[in-house]
Amino acid sequence: MAESMAGLKRSMRCAEVTEAEIGKKLTLMGWVAKTRNKGGIVFVDLRDRSGIMQLIFEDGTIDREGFERAGRLRAEYVIAVTGEICRRSGAVNENLTTGTMEMRVESLRVLSESETPPFPVEDGIKTKDELRLKYRYLDLRRPELQKNFFLRSRIAQITRQFFTENGFLEIETPDLIKSTPEGARDYLVPSRVHPGEFYALPQSPQLFKQLLMCSGFDRYIQIARCFRDEDLRADRQPEFTQIDMELSFVDIDDVIDVNERFLQKLFKETLNVDVELPIRRMTWQEAMDSYGSDKPDLRFDMKIKDVSDVVKNCGFGVFTGALANGGTVRVLNAKGAGQMPRKKIDKLTETAKTYGAKGLAYIAIQPDGSLKSSFTKFLTEEEISELLKAADGQPGDLLLFAADRNKVVWAALGALRLELGEELGLIDHSKFAFVWITEFPLLEWSDEENRFMAMHHPFTKPMEEDWEFIDTDPGRVRAEAYDIVLNGNEIGGGSVRIHRNDIQQKMLEVLGFTPEQAYSQFGFLLDAFKYGVPPHAGLAYGLDRLAMLIAGVDSIRDVIAFPKVKDASDLMCEAPSPVDEKQLSELGIGILPQEEE
Ligand code: AMO
Ligand code: AMP
Repeated sequence: MAESMAGLKRSMRCAEVTEAEIGKKLTLMGWVAKTRNKGGIVFVDLRDRSGIMQLIFEDGTIDREGFERAGRLRAEYVIAVTGEICRRSGAVNENLTTGTMEMRVESLRVLSESETPPFPVEDGIKTKDELRLKYRYLDLRRPELQKNFFLRSRIAQITRQFFTENGFLEIETPDLIKSTPEGARDYLVPSRVHPGEFYALPQSPQLFKQLLMCSGFDRYIQIARCFRDEDLRADRQPEFTQIDMELSFVDIDDVIDVNERFLQKLFKETLNVDVELPIRRMTWQEAMDSYGSDKPDLRFDMKIKDVSDVVKNCGFGVFTGALANGGTVRVLNAKGAGQMPRKKIDKLTETAKTYGAKGLAYIAIQPDGSLKSSFTKFLTEEEISELLKAADGQPGDLLLFAADRNKVVWAALGALRLELGEELGLIDHSKFAFVWITEFPLLEWSDEENRFMAMHHPFTKPMEEDWEFIDTDPGRVRAEAYDIVLNGNEIGGGSVRIHRNDIQQKMLEVLGFTPEQAYSQFGFLLDAFKYGVPPHAGLAYGLDRLAMLIAGVDSIRDVIAFPKVKDASDLMCEAPSPVDEKQLSELGIGILPQEEE
């Protein structure tokens, strides 16, 4: 039976009660977290978003009927209680801020009852993700999840405050926009008024923020929702949130400077962590060569080295074959792992293979200096000693070699580096290792599309000294693009933009657009560039990723109130779902029968 709260006013939240309230009569409201019935006394833990207050129901303090009803309270009932805050009669609970107190309840109202929840509403549950997500509103009652949303709200608040204080204007850009499929796949929204035509949901506010610069707003900030129809991973959702910004009359250093000060403030105010400025910068080339990744985890060292030169004339066909095909041979030195059992090395080989490597060659240097290896029999003594020297191989080390196209070698050894870093306990989990990655290639060859694609996006400015190669060797042109990386996660990225119409048109041409296609897709931007464009640059953070790292959780799902699962569906409201014939016909849409699997 549900009662009304008429005539009652909540005094404060459960854990906002301090010892200053001892002796006072308060009214608290919340959920029953736990009940213990000890014959003459009923103990109840009352929970709200602030925490817990212990309630005591004792025959005599509360009337007979109230006492009996207290005995029937069950988990997740919503109740209102009035009574006096007292010092605890029993043991103090060190884990609660209210652990020295309890409320002696004088009156009880049950505001709503609850069925038995499908899983206990408490921290550390082992419940399957699917069930938790189906009942996300219950999952979200759990303190360990709730605290992530306090943090996320705080991040948004600090962001607004910092950027406003630094001259940024908060401006909203539309969510129903024109489809410009470059990058990820668009989510499309059919138009009823224009049957057969579609809006797209924005993958980011990119073009609009550039147009805002054309309009003279100078500095823009938005906490913007973005939509990308791509495969999900632990750090990716189909809809996610960016802290998105754009600045006029600036160069890379200006963007980096304001963002370093932002990160410093953010980490100080949320975690009391001091971010040392300036944050280190590393070119893309160095990141790939040394760490096999454009988002290197710099919490530990372990660099990759190129040993192509050392092995170029050796007798090991795997190496010379890869070199003959234009590839490289690179080595990762797992210090102190020379005694790794063969089985484990095989496991590392399997990892390497998932990144396209055909195999993994190794030298395990035994403590006495002797070698166990899959290939040294093909090398001369001199080649072996040069190889050890190049790899800084000491007794007790394990050297892992991959030979292939650069892309494959980087990916494979980069992944092994992370796996070994974790396995050998090299990662200091209390560290926050920031790095800016700069000078990305402008273009990236896509085997799938058989053409160059923009590595960041088609509006990114090429480096002036490389522009001369745009026709002869487009892959060599670097861009004024930058990513900010934290502990191996890309938390943000941006670039200086092209602000010249001719260069923008040329860039679109290199990407395979005819002038007509370019105009039909990006005409509004190209037109805007005819009327006075300030040089501009910008950046966007993935707010979810930032919140994930600050909260210290493994998945962005834990910082998104209602996230989607791997196949992009929402298990709670069961989206996506079929719609009525009527809705479809209004939109002029027919559904083709799906082919049977
Ligand atoms: P970019 O595509 O690099 O740049 O995105 C910026 C940041 O957004 C985050 N992010 C994601 N987070 C969660 N789920 C996803 N699916 C997802 N995709 C990206 C990442 C990434 O660093 N308009 C440009 C920015 C600019 O040039 O100013 C852009 O969107 O943390
Ligand atoms: P194979 O000649 O294929 O028997 O390989 C000999 C050794 O070289 C094995 O340990 C393989 O795992 C390793 N190997 C094979 N291909 C590569 C490669 N592309 N890079 C590094 N090692 C490789």
